Amino acid sequence: MYVRNCWYVAAWAHELAENQLISRTVINEPIVLYRNKVGDIVGLEDRCCHRLAPLSHGRIEGNDLRCRYHGLKFNSSGACVEIPMQQAIPPQARVRSYPAVEKHSWIWIWMGDSSLADTSLIPAAVGLDDPHWTLRSGQMDFEANYQLINDNLTDLTHVRFLHPTTFLTPESFPFYAPMVERLDRGIRIWRWLPATSTKSPEKICDEGGDLWTAYDYLVPGIMLMPTVNVAFPKGTAERLGGGRPDVSNGTGVRGTLTSQAITPITDHTSRYFYSWGPSSGEGSDAAADSLLALAKTVFLEDKEMIEAQQRIINFDPGRKELLFGSDAGPVKMRSVIQHLVKAETAAASISSGKELHFAEHP
Ligand code: FES
Ligand SMILES: [Fe+2]
Repeated sequence: MYVRNCWYVAAWAHELAENQLISRTVINEPIVLYRNKVGDIVGLEDRCCHRLAPLSHGRIEGNDLRCRYHGLKFNSSGACVEIPMQQAIPPQARVRSYPAVEKHSWIWIWMGDSSLADTSLIPAAVGLDDPHWTLRSGQMDFEANYQLINDNLTDLTHVRFLHPTTFLTPESFPFYAPMVERLDRGIRIWRWLPATSTKSPEKICDEGGDLWTAYDYLVPGIMLMPTVNVAFPKGTAERLGGGRPDVSNGTGVRGTLTSQAITPITDHTSRYFYSWGPSSGEGSDAAADSLLALAKTVFLEDKEMIEAQQRIINFDPGRKELLFGSDAGPVKMRSVIQHLVKAETAAASISSGKELHFAEHP
């Protein structure tokens, strides 16, 4: 189940050099990406309309792309503009074009109705060139459906169990439920850990302080965590009734930043893009290198579990899960996606004159 009218991360911007074609698959659709003469991104269906050869095996000619099999040439909107040995070009000689934008060091691609592509919906990730942070980046492929990775990232209860020696979270971490707020296109998750001491080198929280963590998770699977931990005087969590604090009143901040994106490649494979790093300053390069190495170790632990989970699910895909309070994040995030997919399906049925009936979901 995929939201189509949203921006998916197709690649890191640095993966696409000038005069280069790269092929990517997003929600089961083959796409070729290149830069036009002024550096803007062009995204076309990676399937020539003639004999269905991949256009990513072709060549760039100015702003256009020529298929390397029998030479059809397409412009950046997907229209065929040249057919060897033929003057007339039929209107159906075209390939689909996808709105594509470079922003925050990622190449975003809009998989739905082009007329609805709205760049203000691109999540506010932080690019690798932001001067306030020293960021490192990476990516990793999973043999698993993207929803399992979304589930993992919207329920960090697993950190204490799956990453016990890698991520130094306080021991109380899994025992305080997160608050999950529904947003239009995602969820906001925060967690108070009252009376906590951190084991991180920064020691931002003296014994007995209250520790706050928060992040946003947006469709299709974009995690934005601007500050991993903020410390507050003991009793703050209780005084606020578990509510959101004014972060500027914090007594200490463990200032690292991460932006992450999950992109479904196919129903069974996904790509995980991530950046992480400390705030800029002396020693931040070494700290960024070690943070990325740590993140990679942790994500490989997630990958091993999630891929194993997917293999078990495959034996009986209809088997129901048994969910608990700690699943509030995954349940709400799946619900946001389901809601948007339903709205898109309903809008499509109205424009095609069909009536649709949906089963009720709890
Ligand atoms: S398959 Fe592309 S021109 Fe023939
Ligand atoms: Fe994890």
